[in-house]
Amino acid sequence: MTSISIRNAGQLLRPAEDGAPYLRDAALTLDPGSVTVRDGVIAAFEDDPGADVIIDAAGAAVIPGFVDCHTHLPFAGWRASEYEMKVTGVPYEEIARSGGGIAASARALAEAGDEQVLAQARAIREEMLRLGTTTLEGKTGYGLSAEGELRLARLGRELQLDRLTGLFAHSVPQGYDPGAWMDVVDALAAQADVDALDIYVESVAFRNEDLARLGEIARREGVALRAHVEQFNANRSVPVALAAGARSVDHLACLHPDDLEPLARAECAAVLLPGAEFLGAEHTPPARALADAGAICVLATDCNPGTSPVASMPVIVGLAVRRYGWSVREALAAATINAAWVLDLPDRGSLEVGKRADLVVLDGPVEHIPYRFGHDPVKTVIRDGEVAWRRP
Ligand code: NIG
Ligand code: FE
Repeated sequence: MTSISIRNAGQLLRPAEDGAPYLRDAALTLDPGSVTVRDGVIAAFEDDPGADVIIDAAGAAVIPGFVDCHTHLPFAGWRASEYEMKVTGVPYEEIARSGGGIAASARALAEAGDEQVLAQARAIREEMLRLGTTTLEGKTGYGLSAEGELRLARLGRELQLDRLTGLFAHSVPQGYDPGAWMDVVDALAAQADVDALDIYVESVAFRNEDLARLGEIARREGVALRAHVEQFNANRSVPVALAAGARSVDHLACLHPDDLEPLARAECAAVLLPGAEFLGAEHTPPARALADAGAICVLATDCNPGTSPVASMPVIVGLAVRRYGWSVREALAAATINAAWVLDLPDRGSLEVGKRADLVVLDGPVEHIPYRFGHDPVKTVIRDGEVAWRRP
């Protein structure tokens, strides 16, 4: 394997103390230094003049690769026509009821061949890699039938995503009520090869009782429970998710004030998705209060054709800093080590000796990621110990 030496980093984003599974306080340091990579892992925080590849960071920052722990890859096509409806005030529920939304993506998926679906997902993954994402989660969810969901799980594995989530309870297929579809979800969970189970709790989708039931199914299958909750309305799903042992609750734009403290104290991550809020004109979650209360805060793109057609973690970090009032350190902890914890990938997500060598060399200090909003700050991406991309 290639050995790599990155010298002259103006900032190395490292945990204040090694060994933490996640950071509730964004305790990260930004001291200058060097990194040496050997045998696929971070070997030392020093320069190695004899390394196979020498990279001069030229005084810029070196950070861990982004961990995008909530995307909806694979999906087929896009839904640009809905975007203008959304920003001019047509509610998501109304778009969904008129045949748009998740149902439209399910139709597109049913019409697309496997190769077409895989090609689109690979192109998006390549775009993500160039923007610094070295670990990627994806979900089923646009199948809307037992066969369709099993097909998506198979395609997800074919893509070799780092983690695959079964979002079998995404939208209630025609001819079912939520309870009857949950019987199918139960069978799918037993059959499909996935790392976690997820559900969308909302007036147009599933109910808190379905979330509680999915918790039992996840426990039986020995996989993590995750849940899309409080996206458009306050359904008080967070206490249900906590009782069910969820690893994460995602969205939280309409989090009920009484549910904030219990969530912040729990070992359950608050996955915030500012791309979906920004493009979907939703509410904004109480992100500053969650960080102040010590929640395990996480950021992800939610990359999907409906609410967040966003592939860029730098853009997500920029949105979080601006809209949530987070420091850059808070946003970067949320986009790296805390996100790796959600996916139960303790081998990565932070710059520590022995961790998988997933590193991004930027073209400036970390503060430029939110400040130069929309600028691509990524110069070099090292994934799993190899140079995966270099800006030409
Ligand atoms: O995370 N809320 C449900 N699921 C997706 C949106 C899916 C879609 O609109 O295609 C989300 O926002
Ligand atoms: Fe989502």
